[in-house]
Amino acid sequence: MGNVIGGLLTSHVPGIGGAIARGVEKDPYWAPFFDGFDPVHDWLAEAKPDVAVVFYNDHGLNFFLDKMPTFAVGAAASYRNADEGWGLPVQREIQGDTALSWHIIEQLVADEFDVTTCQSMLVDHAVVVPFQLCWPGGNAWPVRLVPIALNTVQHPLPSPKRCLAMGCAVGRALERWQGPERIMVMGTGGLSHQLDGQRAGFINQTYDRFCMDNIVHDPDALTRISALDIIEEAGSQGVEIINWIAARGALGEGVTERSRNYHIPISNTAAATMLLTKEPAEAMAA
Ligand code: DHB
Ligand code: FE
Repeated sequence: MGNVIGGLLTSHVPGIGGAIARGVEKDPYWAPFFDGFDPVHDWLAEAKPDVAVVFYNDHGLNFFLDKMPTFAVGAAASYRNADEGWGLPVQREIQGDTALSWHIIEQLVADEFDVTTCQSMLVDHAVVVPFQLCWPGGNAWPVRLVPIALNTVQHPLPSPKRCLAMGCAVGRALERWQGPERIMVMGTGGLSHQLDGQRAGFINQTYDRFCMDNIVHDPDALTRISALDIIEEAGSQGVEIINWIAARGALGEGVTERSRNYHIPISNTAAATMLLTKEPAEAMAA
């Protein structure tokens, strides 16, 4: 069974939430980014996902430097947002899906990915900004959430290869899921950006385009350099691409790029959005 219908890869710049709060999505600065969500809204209206499995990185809200899991899976009944920085108003709670969370956790551990399990978890802009982008308007969120956090904050970081393998293991778990839910996958963050230090404002379009051009059909190409080399190429926060890599793994076979948007800059970031859809399982079996 398992019903993965597609995935969204998107930047999670907190200022996007501030722009939504101020209603300035159509302003010349913001429109080139927000317009990239028109095809996403069309797809969501057709595809009607029930659950979002979201690969993201916590930025010091739920995990801090004193306790930093490499990979953590949420198994909470609901997820509170408590990240009001950068002009981003605190967002309403998101419902969890504990049955699917525990299924993923059991399958990951059986597959020898020894993840941290979180029965209570706060989520920051890396989850709520993509949710706001997908489902604007302030109504109750139409999907339940399974959050999977990857450490991009404190060294040593997981290797891109390991992140892809972990994402693939989540994909196998989703294939074995017997429930009727329509499941979408998200990977948030990136693309190239660096928020502080000597290279603050650093962006590398060549590397970003390489990632976007290869992530669908050759995700291994993104894993041939180490996390430290990604920082060299994409800036110290550009390493958030590992969330995209894991999400791509979870989508498995039969993935098509349905839309893409790339716009520089949004805040300090090369902002990118890719919508990937999955062929239905029956079509792949035929
Ligand atoms: C910005 C980008 C991020 O990914 C983040 O977590 C915080 C800030 C930015 O470009 O402003
Ligand atoms: Fe970030």
